[in-house]
Amino acid sequence: MFNIFKKPTPDIDFSSLEVDIHSHLIPGIDDGAPDLEIALGLVRKMADMGYKKLITTPHVYQEYYPNEPDTILPGLEALKAAVAAENIPIELHAAAEYFMDEHFEELLEKKALLTLKDNYVLVEMSFFGAPPDLENYLFQMQIKGYKPILAHPERYLYYKGNIEKYQRIKELGCLLQLNILSLTGYYDRAVQQNARELIKEGLIDLLGTDLHHDIHADKLALALKDRKIAKLLEEYEFRNKELFA
Ligand SMILES: [Fe+2]
Repeated sequence: MFNIFKKPTPDIDFSSLEVDIHSHLIPGIDDGAPDLEIALGLVRKMADMGYKKLITTPHVYQEYYPNEPDTILPGLEALKAAVAAENIPIELHAAAEYFMDEHFEELLEKKALLTLKDNYVLVEMSFFGAPPDLENYLFQMQIKGYKPILAHPERYLYYKGNIEKYQRIKELGCLLQLNILSLTGYYDRAVQQNARELIKEGLIDLLGTDLHHDIHADKLALALKDRKIAKLLEEYEFRNKELFA
């Protein structure tokens, strides 16, 4: 039965963020969009959800996804052409999501990292444990003129309940990018709790979609109907637009 006391869902989208800095939309080079048509559909959904600019970030993880500019950039050009042909109103760029390992260290040494904008670089680490050299990686990046952003800190559950670890990473000059879907409980309950804790502590700088496929896109659209998430988008000062528009 229709509930007349139910408040209307707030009319909100992701346009306040304007820019997404974490997704896997380059066709066929990682565990994201497998082909151009699917990638195009995902870009359309992002535009429909209010994004104006996407800086997509294929995995660079030598063991599984040995990407480099030569695999990423031609895919970007193909996707941009398809987006233009379909008149989808969104700006497209590409960088990468670097897994911090020895290969990453070599790229860093050569100053060969793809940057989001203004030398910002998106990095990730294992879900099973941080690299022993984490602090050194973050330090060396900045020595080389890069500005690190750690992807989905809430998903590294070995840090859960240890807020000092996150504070330390921030003190070392690294920004933190939370996945929107972590707030919905999409990954799991512990990740959701950790995400809420990091937000409560004011440690999160950026929101990202980490969009890989249609299920993610559909869950993101649903997240906009969640009152807590809508309120967060209105009240918390995420830096997506400030740093990347
Ligand atoms: Fe990712």
